[in-house]
Amino acid sequence: MNTRERWGTRVGLVLAVAGNAVGLGNFLRFPAQAAQNGGGAFIIPYLVSFLLMGIPLLWIEWAIGRHGGVRGHHSTPGMFDVMGRSPLLKYLGVFGLFTNLCVAAYYCYIESWTLAYVWHSLVGTFRLESATAFFPRFLGQTEGSLFALPLEATFWFCLTLALNLFILSRGLTRGIELAARIGMPLLMLFGIILAVRGLTLGPDTPHVVQSPLAGLDFIWRPRLSGLTDPSTWLAAAGQVFFTLSVGMGSIHCYASYLRSRQDIALNASAAGWMNEFVEVVLGSSIIIPIAVAYLGLDAVRSATAGGSGFGLGFLTLPTLFNHWGWFAPLAGMLWFGLLFFAGITSSLAMGQPILAFFEDSFRFSRLKAALTFGAATFALGFLCVWLYPGGAFDEFDFWTGTFSLVAFALGESIIFAWVFGMDKGWEEITRGADMKVPRFFRFVIRFVTPAFILVIFLSSLVKPAEGDWGAAFAMLGTGGGWPLDGDSVIGKILHVGVDDQRWIRDGALTRMFVQDATRILLLCVFIGWGFLVHRAWKRKREVAP
Ligand code: PHE
Repeated sequence: MNTRERWGTRVGLVLAVAGNAVGLGNFLRFPAQAAQNGGGAFIIPYLVSFLLMGIPLLWIEWAIGRHGGVRGHHSTPGMFDVMGRSPLLKYLGVFGLFTNLCVAAYYCYIESWTLAYVWHSLVGTFRLESATAFFPRFLGQTEGSLFALPLEATFWFCLTLALNLFILSRGLTRGIELAARIGMPLLMLFGIILAVRGLTLGPDTPHVVQSPLAGLDFIWRPRLSGLTDPSTWLAAAGQVFFTLSVGMGSIHCYASYLRSRQDIALNASAAGWMNEFVEVVLGSSIIIPIAVAYLGLDAVRSATAGGSGFGLGFLTLPTLFNHWGWFAPLAGMLWFGLLFFAGITSSLAMGQPILAFFEDSFRFSRLKAALTFGAATFALGFLCVWLYPGGAFDEFDFWTGTFSLVAFALGESIIFAWVFGMDKGWEEITRGADMKVPRFFRFVIRFVTPAFILVIFLSSLVKPAEGDWGAAFAMLGTGGGWPLDGDSVIGKILHVGVDDQRWIRDGALTRMFVQDATRILLLCVFIGWGFLVHRAWKRKREVAP
């Protein structure tokens, strides 16, 4: 039976979990977030969030996962169901299915760009056409249109999905674990080659305007200014969530294939620290230094304004590689190949919990479960492809890749420490542990982590205009009301900053329509998963005597 699946070896397990965490977030999102939030001003809030929230959440999620897995549950609804008496607990687990599916939809789309770019680097496309012109054409964007039907991009998207499904359908050890064993070392190797090449760009290399080391200095030299800025904290905590894959339900799933006495404390830490190494050391040493060397620090700071890193990764870098002569196509292959390996070991981690849900609850075969996941991802992903210019993609990223992670993590940290209970929780984390977990973390998990996440959650709801909390409180004090930022959760729902709030203007649908339609769709997907969970339990009651 599938539910008896186990990891093959410890190295394989740690590589698979590290592969889960190491993703596009490490190489594109981290450098861009760091640069956008003041470089070294970002790094202290980031590291504090990692220690007080990231590491504890990893332990919590591994513990919930192993506890559920031993009881036959490999996706979050079942895992929460066995943590307490309330029949409502399983519905918190709906997040763990919803997020994985929806993030997979847009994540696989970006992953498919990386594959396409490997090809285009090798055949020399970016020598003939500038990457800046190629990118919008590839995505099928045309001036003023909200829709796109990019044939080539759709082809690569289907190919990427097919690869994911093929690997997933081979099962845990022959699929995911094998992919991680191949992908992770190659990714490291590619990363090191690029980092060495970039960091050794000397002042007499043609076209170099500044030392690449200035880029590292900018990101790594800690500055205290970020400590008092809540927006920097918000961005740092958000990055910790995304990069560690916590608040998703995917760590839980990987941990559910452990035996009851198998270590979690050390495995979780090893994978978490490995992710940090790849993010902070390797992630900082590629795009930022290379771009700084050729364009200067100021240009790089303005290029990362959106914070996603797409601009630097897909437009700037392929152009800069052209300075490297014969090495240019290879450099492109290394860079996009690295992104592809980082991406696929993460998207597999999004798929597995969904497969597991259908296998456990509806007795689907692995192939049938994989095809179901594929069909759903294709449908949602196609929407991202088709409505990319209209902003559907950004909606997916915000609601499912940012907001719901925090909401779910808040729920699970409270349930773990206060419903499941800290005595049982601590016993679960430390049972079979191959390292001594400092007792201090018992206190952290009980109070600090939930409180920390609560503060993050509430501040993201009401983030003030320009992230200027001082000015906002002053305005509130003088009776001027609270100036909401258009990027805050409530601000987004109300479309703060959009003057003309109409779905149709001059007979044409507006961007606001696409945004609202996407949100309603996502809500329906969430409710749909809730319904499936309901059905699954009803079925269980009927099957059981
Ligand atoms: N951690 C991955 C990254 O940094 C993203 C991810 C999120 C993967 C959730 C799996 C689950 O890109």
